[in-house]
Amino acid sequence: MAVATRIEEVRSELDQLAQSTPTAQEFMRGMAKLLHERMLKYNWVGFYMLEPDANPPMLALGAFEGAMTPHTRIPLNQGICGAAASSGQTVVVDDVSRDPRYLACSLETKSEIVVPIFARGKVVGELDIDSHFHAAFTSEHQELVQHCAALVGKKLEAAAQ
Ligand code: SME
Repeated sequence: MAVATRIEEVRSELDQLAQSTPTAQEFMRGMAKLLHERMLKYNWVGFYMLEPDANPPMLALGAFEGAMTPHTRIPLNQGICGAAASSGQTVVVDDVSRDPRYLACSLETKSEIVVPIFARGKVVGELDIDSHFHAAFTSEHQELVQHCAALVGKKLEAAAQ
């Protein structure tokens, strides 16, 4: 199946999942599972959420699919994860071995994308995906992952009402 077709299909399945899942927590679990199962190069998929009131600010591992990671809590000044959360910008790393910020989760990981999740205009967490393939996160993948992060942000906003 062409990558563009698969992305379209997965995107509409995620839109449906957002409709049918009552809580943000369940939605994040379902999203991690669906992305991990359906997107063949997404070898680790997980959420890091900002701990409320932590000082210094800290990202805590949430729902994930893939091997357990040693990085269950990440300060904002560390890792690709910290860079995405502190800048509020998507970070794509085509070759993690060449990025000094990278915190290793698996020796097999070659590339990574981290997309911040916003709720009510503030970063509340992020969606992190690792791949065993170099440069797996081309622009069409970035769009998909950014769409995913936006869906989670909306769900969190709805839950907080
Ligand atoms: N690689 C991330 C750490 C999280 S693991 O990949 C699951 C980073 O550099 O922040």
